[in-house]
Amino acid sequence: MRAATATLAAAGVPSPRHDAQALAAHVLSLPAARLAMAGPPSAEQQARYADLVGQRTHRVPLQHLTGVAGFRRLDLAVGPGVFVPRPETEVLVDWALAALAGTRAPLVVDLCAGSGALALALANELPSRPRVHAVDNDPLALAWARRNAEARAAAGDQPVTLHRGDVTDPTLLADLAGSVDLVIANPPYIPDGAAVEPEVAEHDPPAALWGGPDGLDLVRHVERTAARLLRSGGAVAVEHADLQGRSAPALFHRPEWTDVADHPDLAGRPRFSTARRSRPDRVPDPTCRGATIPR
Ligand SMILES: C[S@@+](CC[C@H](N)C(=O)[O-])C[C@H]1O[C@@H](n2cnc3c(N)ncnc32)[C@H](O)[C@@H]1O
Repeated sequence: MRAATATLAAAGVPSPRHDAQALAAHVLSLPAARLAMAGPPSAEQQARYADLVGQRTHRVPLQHLTGVAGFRRLDLAVGPGVFVPRPETEVLVDWALAALAGTRAPLVVDLCAGSGALALALANELPSRPRVHAVDNDPLALAWARRNAEARAAAGDQPVTLHRGDVTDPTLLADLAGSVDLVIANPPYIPDGAAVEPEVAEHDPPAALWGGPDGLDLVRHVERTAARLLRSGGAVAVEHADLQGRSAPALFHRPEWTDVADHPDLAGRPRFSTARRSRPDRVPDPTCRGATIPR
């Protein structure tokens, strides 16, 4: 592992020691915390380890090599064709759990679901038999989401209903219009042409990344779709890039929304915008700061 750490560091891998340990744990089928107690690896295990470390030096994502991405309490299957869930997305789930506290059997929609990370985490953590729908327009991503959803349902979580659909379609989930308690989304939001790490550029699907000239093309559609789907008082949370801490919440400064806010991730960087669907008896604050005043 010491030699692998040095090899990975020389290749520019950002967390070489962590990745060397994670790959060793994967090859030995052990939790990383138990590596110190492992016996000597077999020749076959050593060869497999060398192969995986070599692939990692070519910046194949760690999660593609192990086949697993941790997200909240779940281990999700990932690989080529699906976006690898990121730790910064986990904070949206905390906000969603608080927003839905006290709502019985909440109706939840995850737009741009990818592996199903947000939808499945909420199905796993919401206490009151949630009804969760997840939408993506990419059949490859949906195949991974289906695999994860089947595994979670077999483990006893509430089932998640998957839809192949496009968030730009004004008829998407028309039968749920006006009845949803929470819309949550981590859409593509990287401005076209921005520099990204090789793991991202070469292994995340392009449709999961690029969001047009300012990165907000899909966020605009999420805002429109959420306004249509949510019941009065329902909540929306949408992830954005750290440079969009003003421009993303600004999209919600419309009469349909109240309580507009932006939130940081665990590293303190602006990470997601939230809002509540206005009640009909309230009108927007003319200063457009997201507050509402009684009519
Ligand atoms: C950044 S990934 C997020 C995946 C997952 N929510 C997560 O956090 O790991 C964005 C996802 O949006 C999907 N997507 C892109 N454009 C879309 C569209 N117009 N309609 C529906 N899904 C779309 C992509 O296929 C991709 O799976």
